[in-house]
Amino acid sequence: MATIELVQVEKLFGEMHAVKPMDLTIHDGEFVVLLGPSGCGKTTTLRMISGLEAVTRGRILLNGRDVTWERPSERDIAFVFQFFALYSHMSARQNIAFPLQAQGEAKAVITQRVADVARLLRIEHLLDVRPGALSGGDQQRVALARALVRRPAAFLMDEPLGALDAEFRETMRAEIKRLHIDQHATTVYVTHDQIEAMAMGDRIVVMSAAEVQQVGTPAEVYHNPSSLFVARFIGSPGMNLIQGHYVNGVLHLPPSNRYTVPARWVPAIQQVVGGEGDVILGFRPEAAAVVSDGPLAAEVYAADLHGSYTMLHLSLGPDEIVHSRARRETHYPIGTPVRFDLNPEMVRFFDPQTERAIVREGVPA
Ligand SMILES: Nc1ncnc2c1ncn2[C@@H]1O[C@H](COP(=O)(O)OP(=O)(O)OP(=O)(O)O)[C@@H](O)[C@H]1O
Ligand SMILES: [Mg+2]
Repeated sequence: MATIELVQVEKLFGEMHAVKPMDLTIHDGEFVVLLGPSGCGKTTTLRMISGLEAVTRGRILLNGRDVTWERPSERDIAFVFQFFALYSHMSARQNIAFPLQAQGEAKAVITQRVADVARLLRIEHLLDVRPGALSGGDQQRVALARALVRRPAAFLMDEPLGALDAEFRETMRAEIKRLHIDQHATTVYVTHDQIEAMAMGDRIVVMSAAEVQQVGTPAEVYHNPSSLFVARFIGSPGMNLIQGHYVNGVLHLPPSNRYTVPARWVPAIQQVVGGEGDVILGFRPEAAAVVSDGPLAAEVYAADLHGSYTMLHLSLGPDEIVHSRARRETHYPIGTPVRFDLNPEMVRFFDPQTERAIVREGVPA
């Protein structure tokens, strides 16, 4: 059981901010994912929570207790790294038992706990094998078992699946999620893979350049990104973003399209740009549909079949491609002129000056 609180936690390496002042509360039993590109400060944040890295400023609370200056061993938190270091001269069983022996647990307790965790991870048949003879996925299961066996208050996982191939990643992703559902241990999980973050997180903390961009559920960061960065980073492809010129309720888009802004967005937009100004329109591929009487004109630039759907690449102008998710059997020759419409519930707007979302109350996530 653990609640983790970061209060204005900050890390400088020399003059450089690895993590800018950060506030975050991770609730008991929650699975929180730190997501962002390489170098944005994810590992540093995790290491500060674990105590492996000292904070420059700020406080870290575990169940309300200030642990900022406690040693890692005093914090009751387990850390799983990407590069799982198992002892090669020990069997899987000995590796898993090791943290309990270090704690001085009784032999009978150790035997029972190792058996329990091995059953949970379905590695009972591998307990007498040494790591060198195990596949990457099984090595990672043993490493997870070694972390789990201590029954810590919280888990910190730094790209634990990063070294695995795609198929194992999928399996292990599902297993870690299932473990979390079974055990409900507070978990902070680091990844730069947005698909993994969306699949696993109760909430996602999107970071870029040492700063938290947004904290939200997968649905919130997907449907209501707080900035252009989040809009582009989440989703594959990311959100369609087209800069236009707003004049009194109409957005003029390249090359000569006119999009009538849904009336409920007009006050929020006018609050930012007044009666006229540049605004970025955002919409996900599934919000755009080709329809004969659609208000927007484009040309089919490419069409990719993805098995269950077709992704249409529509060109509005020379440098303006948007993606529209269409039915599987959709087929257009390249260059076909089409018209398309946007689901009014799913359009979003951004301020090109600040790169922040224009916010309207009551937007469905
Ligand atoms: N011990 C250190 N000394 C100096 N700079 C460091 C140190 N550790 C990290 N950094 C720098 O701090 C920044 C954040 O690093 P961090 O490892 O937290 O990023 P990350 O988000 O985990 O990236 P990745 O996805 O590549 O693992 C980077 O610019 C990194 O080079
Ligand atoms: Mg890292």
